[in-house]
Amino acid sequence: MKNGKTPTATTTMEKIVSLAKRRGFIFPSSEIYGGLNSCWDYGPLGVELKNNVKQAWWQRMIRQREDMVGQDASILMHPRVWEASGHLAGFTDPLVDCKECKQRFRADHLTTNVCPECGGELTEARNFNLMFKTFMGPVEDQAAVVYLRPETAQGIFVNFANVLTTTRKKLPFGVGQIGKSFRNEITPGNFTFRTREFEQMEIEYFVKPGDDEECYRHWVEVRYNWYQELGINPDRLRLRPHNPEELAHYAKACIDIEYYFPMGWSELEGIANRTDFDLKRHTEYSGNKLDYFDQETNEHYIPYVIEPSAGADRATLAFLVDAYHEEPDKDETRVVLRFHPEIAPIKVAVLPLSRKEPLQSMAKEISGELRRYWNTEYDDAKSIGRRYRRQDEVGTPFCVTVDFQSPEDRTVTVRERDTMAQTRIAVDELVAYLREKLG
Ligand code: GLY
Repeated sequence: MKNGKTPTATTTMEKIVSLAKRRGFIFPSSEIYGGLNSCWDYGPLGVELKNNVKQAWWQRMIRQREDMVGQDASILMHPRVWEASGHLAGFTDPLVDCKECKQRFRADHLTTNVCPECGGELTEARNFNLMFKTFMGPVEDQAAVVYLRPETAQGIFVNFANVLTTTRKKLPFGVGQIGKSFRNEITPGNFTFRTREFEQMEIEYFVKPGDDEECYRHWVEVRYNWYQELGINPDRLRLRPHNPEELAHYAKACIDIEYYFPMGWSELEGIANRTDFDLKRHTEYSGNKLDYFDQETNEHYIPYVIEPSAGADRATLAFLVDAYHEEPDKDETRVVLRFHPEIAPIKVAVLPLSRKEPLQSMAKEISGELRRYWNTEYDDAKSIGRRYRRQDEVGTPFCVTVDFQSPEDRTVTVRERDTMAQTRIAVDELVAYLREKLG
């Protein structure tokens, strides 16, 4: 977990945005109306990619761990939740307005005391709450105000007793959840990195007070390794502990896992020690005891919480950026996304060398069979070289080519994306062969 020297950038955000649009990973939201600032839609390949990221998280963090369970809480919660959590009072950014050009800035992001755009005079800073507000039901009065959750975490805290009773878990154990959250950010940007609507993958891990610091170190290691196991270049990952003045109102300690994006080192995930802050506050505000009875020591206490909080959109963007490679190929440049097979949106493409029969029906039969196991694409348009390039550009690990020899001896070639090596395989052995490589 070293913090090495600054890596060199392999690509620009413009290239990523352009590829994402061109190949159907990510589109601007409501594009036919001119788009909506900082809102993005995942297209056919993007939704596969992001689902694979979320599944890789769920699989390793929830299913494969005996000490973890999952849940899915609603986005709208009782407004008292946000009083108890401290978000209503304290989830704010300091905001200044330019008196001349009327632009708004985060005071803590400015290095001068005049407007960075026009040099005009700035207003005094005032606190701006980041929670989106709406009304529940037909009457738009104060009593009907509800908030779109700014973190999924609170859905786990308010269900602590429900999960404890129904699962009969013993400490330490954790609850994980994937879901949308909303923050009315003043300065969103950098493509899908900072958006007002985003998806979180959060764990609240409950632990006996006193065991929290060791548990915190455990989760930093687990989460740091997760990115690397799925292929992220370790030279582009680092850990950055928060300074005391940066800590959120509930945290005793926090460390960010950062990735070297085209705009520089930026947060992928924060791992915080939230102490007993949230369960204590919900006990106080709701009047319901949220504690734990330790049968070994015969005592009641409120557990401490370690919280690995990752962004699903940020992780997806990091996998996309990290996979992006350009390499010389004859007189051209080969663009290849070197996704880990578990993350790749399309696992295998089936390409008949010609549209003539019986090649086409054989290729259709093979793609139909492979589709039962993996996301498979069939493509018979244009030259085989062009089709390989198209698959490289979206990161498909394997291409199966049905050629003129195939109907004669029921063999195909399997081309591997990274090495471009081709292997001749019997059709009957294809599923077993790909299973070994793709899992
Ligand atoms: N739950 C921590 C965060 O959303 O930042």
